[in-house]
Amino acid sequence: MSSPTLLHSTAPSSLRLFSPSKINLFLRILGKRPDNYHDLSSLFQAISLGDILEIERVDSGDDDFSCNMPGVPTDSSNLVLKAVNLIRSRTNNNNVKFSINLNKKCPAQAGLGGGSANAATALYGVNKLLGKPCTQEELIEMSGELGSDVTFFLSKGTAYCTGRGEIMNEIPALKTSADVKCTIVKINLGLSTPTVFKALDYDQLSSKDPEEILKQFGSKGTEVAEEYFVNDLEAPAFSCLPKLLELKKLLSTCSFSTVMMSGSGTSIFCLGESGDSQVWKEICGREDVMVFETRFINRRSEEEWYDEP
Ligand code: C5P
Repeated sequence: MSSPTLLHSTAPSSLRLFSPSKINLFLRILGKRPDNYHDLSSLFQAISLGDILEIERVDSGDDDFSCNMPGVPTDSSNLVLKAVNLIRSRTNNNNVKFSINLNKKCPAQAGLGGGSANAATALYGVNKLLGKPCTQEELIEMSGELGSDVTFFLSKGTAYCTGRGEIMNEIPALKTSADVKCTIVKINLGLSTPTVFKALDYDQLSSKDPEEILKQFGSKGTEVAEEYFVNDLEAPAFSCLPKLLELKKLLSTCSFSTVMMSGSGTSIFCLGESGDSQVWKEICGREDVMVFETRFINRRSEEEWYDEP
């Protein structure tokens, strides 16, 4: 990875890439580490709600980054630019500049990994624009440096993640994943990941063995018993934001088979059919709530899903 890349003629000069988001079908917190992160075990699933990242290699000038979503930083604190800088310096290509446009649909502070997905997509895209100097293993290694959730987005769509989240073990697409409806309900209040981790009460953690939960999902897919849909970050998120617990309770009265918070919140994912109850109609009409109809996605080839599903 040390010598500068010779940009060969087959490398594209621009790419338009889909950047999916994720839900956590279960998330167990195992304990706090000396580096202040938490060891966790979680089953990640990619979903069809996502953003579009356009990257163009430019021959002169400097990097340019724009984003349609107000509030998203467009300076070097954005994970996309951090990813670009990391792969560029690792491959000795600091002289190559990029014009980047991020069209976001996935809300921020939602527990859907939107920013992490953008970073993984940027690593993939820049690698391609540079003529693929890095192997998939090298991209995976860099992704872990960018954030705990970034590595998952280099998977094929379903993965069991451990460590602080960056140790990614791919598993086959879940049996029921092709047809299950996944409705994302996002209240217009966000929670930052560190805030939720700080509010953890270690006495409230589930006692379920993550390997056993994983086995259940592996054999039964999303048809597992309700008790296996566990997210240890729900309790601290609800203590920070009681309105979120109220929303989950309302959603639980609809016809969905599962209603659970994703990641550190504040999205709630609902599997199955909503039904057409008055409660559901009222939730859909609320100005403080966004609803996204999504499905699980898994890719079979390297390119698939970077092309919009
Ligand atoms: O890795 P990432 O930058 O996404 O993490 C953001 C913050 O979330 C960390 O600084 C930490 O406070 C918290 N976190 C944690 N344990 C993890 C992942 C994140 O405590 N496994």
